[in-house]
Amino acid sequence: MIQDRKLEHIKICLDKDVNATHNYWDDVVLKHVTIPKKDLDEISTEIEFLGKKLTAPILIDAMTGGHPVAKKINENIAKVAEELGIAIAVGSQRSAIENSNLEDTYGIVAQYDVPLRIGNLGAPQFALGYGEKEVHSAIEMIDAHALEIHFNYLQESVQPEGDRVVKGLIDNLSSLAKKYKLIGKETGAGFDYNSAKLLKELGFVAIDVSGVSGTSFAAVEYYRRGKHGKLFWDWGLPSPYCVLNLKSLGLPLIGSGGLRSGLDLARAIALGADVGGFARSLLKYATKSWQELLSKVQELIEELKIAMFLTGASYISELKQASYVIKGELRFWL
Ligand SMILES: Cc1cc2nc3c(=O)[nH]c(=O)nc-3n(C[C@H](O)[C@H](O)[C@H](O)COP(=O)(O)O)c2cc1C
Repeated sequence: MIQDRKLEHIKICLDKDVNATHNYWDDVVLKHVTIPKKDLDEISTEIEFLGKKLTAPILIDAMTGGHPVAKKINENIAKVAEELGIAIAVGSQRSAIENSNLEDTYGIVAQYDVPLRIGNLGAPQFALGYGEKEVHSAIEMIDAHALEIHFNYLQESVQPEGDRVVKGLIDNLSSLAKKYKLIGKETGAGFDYNSAKLLKELGFVAIDVSGVSGTSFAAVEYYRRGKHGKLFWDWGLPSPYCVLNLKSLGLPLIGSGGLRSGLDLARAIALGADVGGFARSLLKYATKSWQELLSKVQELIEELKIAMFLTGASYISELKQASYVIKGELRFWL
């Protein structure tokens, strides 16, 4: 059952260390500016992303749905997003497409005035027959402004019940991308330049890089007895490498995979991301209560502002121009 699997993912992500061995954001050092330009309190973190105004460049990224526990988590996330004016994505909506009784576990987010609500479906399903009907119902279910299509072929490869199919996928997505706002998304193994370029040509409106640095779905599946999970634990492209690599495509970019703090978020933006996507680092707060999640996200925003203050950036557009040094393992990739 998909519902059981989803709950198992949440449990493993809360109880086990499923991070990639190395967090490549540690290899990005923002250069200090001795005399800041504005008072810290005057710094603005506002941005416009996919036509929506956000008070900070933060997306609480796709994690869950399809279970009463997941409904509460999604509600906590939506409440905080409304309160703070940031973006959210729900987890894969496949379980509710297949069992409409589960729709409210996602639909709960539509009851909150969130500036940017993003739905989520898996790419392999589009090789197996999903089409306009499923896209339409995922969007309707949460009154979504856009839909993430997640490419999780690493996970599908190491998961006992994985869908390792791609035939017909691109033709199918090509017609859907003409009609709907689709975002291409990875889930922790990163987006390469040519795949992202292909999606841009199809008409996708953004890419969520979700690279190596944080949650490894090979690791998650290892704990679910996935046969090859351990071997492929660190497989993929480092998140900051993906951001740097995809910047020249000129598509809106979500920098994600391993973000832990507002400093990581500042690093992602300085490298070329428009928004930072946080998943597992917020899960335990979202599971506890909306108040705990609220104070954690407020802390992220404070940290982002400090990083902006100390790089001489008063606006996100100025943070994008910040100078940085790349060291350590990330340097090998460049
Ligand atoms: C518990 C959990 C469930 C997830 N479920 C989904 C999902 O349903 N769809 C999806 O696109 N990504 C899913 N992801 C992947 C995240 O959206 C994100 O791309 C990935 O975890 C990397 O970010 P992180 O290192 O901040 O966790 C999930 C992540 C976690 C931790």
